[in-house]
Amino acid sequence: MSLAPVTIAGTGSYLPEKVLTNADLETIVDTTDEWITSRTGIKARRIAAEGQSTSDLATEAAKKALAQANIAAEDLDLIIVATITPDTLTPATACYVQDNLEARKAVAFDISAACSGFLYAMEMARNLIGAGSFQNALIIGAEKLSAFTNWEDRNTCVLFGDGAGAAVLRKSEEGEGRILAMEIGTDGAQTGILNIPGGGSACPITIDNANDKLASLSMLGKEVFRHAVTRMKTAATKVVEEAGLESKDIAQVIPHQANLRIIDAIADRLTIDNDKVFVNLHKYGNTSAAAVAIALDEAAREGKFKRGENIVCVVFGAGLTWAAAAIEW
Ligand code: UT7
Repeated sequence: MSLAPVTIAGTGSYLPEKVLTNADLETIVDTTDEWITSRTGIKARRIAAEGQSTSDLATEAAKKALAQANIAAEDLDLIIVATITPDTLTPATACYVQDNLEARKAVAFDISAACSGFLYAMEMARNLIGAGSFQNALIIGAEKLSAFTNWEDRNTCVLFGDGAGAAVLRKSEEGEGRILAMEIGTDGAQTGILNIPGGGSACPITIDNANDKLASLSMLGKEVFRHAVTRMKTAATKVVEEAGLESKDIAQVIPHQANLRIIDAIADRLTIDNDKVFVNLHKYGNTSAAAVAIALDEAAREGKFKRGENIVCVVFGAGLTWAAAAIEW
C-alpha cells in the first residue's frame, strides 16, 4: 500500500529553568568539570522543578509546536508521548498531556523506546497518517530523568537532564516538505548494558531494597558507546541512501545528544563537516527521548536549515534501540 507523504508542520521545545552546572556537580559527587567536559562535552543540564512532572514539560513543548503548526489542540486526533520517565506507570503520560491541552478528540498513548522514542513515534505517526487513519498527530519526547538518577553515582548523574520536544505531523500538501525515509531497529540481546533495573514487575521497590537506588539509570558506558557509533552510522546511511541523497545534499544532521565524542565519530563516518552537525548537549546533557526533539526544534528556529532543504535525524538508546529519519524540511 502506498502511503501519502507526511510533513512536519511545527516543532516546539521546553526546558525547565533550573540549571545544574558541572561546578554544581563537583560539590555533589567526586567529579570535575574537566572530566565531564573532556569525556562528554556536557557543561550544564536542566532540572525540573519540584512538582513539575514529565507531562508538564511535554505540555509546554506541545503548545509551542501547535502554535507554529497553526493547528488547534481540539483538531488533534493522535498524541504519542515517547518517554522512559512517565508521570505514572499507568495511565500513559500522553493521557495527562491530552487533558492539559484539552485535545478531547485525540487518541493518546506512550511508547517506551528510550532515546530513540521520538523517532519511533515519528515513524508510527507517519504510517498512521500516511494510511489515512489519522490526520493531525502530536509527537513528543519528554523526560524528567532527574527523578530516575542516582545522585551518588558519578558514572551516570553527570550525564542526564530534563526537557521536552514536540512536533506536529500532518499530510504534506503540494510544494511542502515531507519525511523522505525512516529506519528503526532494536537489539533485545543488549538490555543489560543500559537500563533502570528496579521499579518494574521484574524488581519492584520494596522496604528491603529501597536504599539500593534500583529505580535509577544504570549503564556500561564503554559498551553503549561502541554500539551507539555503529548503529547510528548504519541507520543514518540507510535513510540517506533510501532518500536518494548524498552527503553534499544534507543541510544539517541532528544527532542524539549523549556525548560529543559519539557525535564527532558519526560526523566523521558520514563524511559530514562538523558545522553541519547540530549540538546542544553542552547546555542540556542527555535528555533521552527529548534530546533529538529539542535539537530539531532549536536547529530549525536558529535557521540551521530552511524549508526545502534536507536534514537527517539519528538516535540511539536503551533496548538497544536506534532510529534515523531523512526529512525534506
Ligand atoms: O543516551 C543513551 C546512550 N548513552 C550513551 O551514548 C553513553 C555512551 N557512553 C559514554 O558516553 C561514555 O562511555 C561515558 C561518558 C559514560 C564514560 O566515558 P568513558 O571514557 O567510557 O569512561 P569510563 O567509563 O571508562 O571511565 C573512565 C574512568 C573510570 O575510572 P578508572 O576505573 O579508570 O579509575 C571511572 O571511574 O573515569 C571514572 N569516572 C569519572 N571520573 C570523574 C566515571 N565517571 C566519572 C566522573 N568524574 N563523573
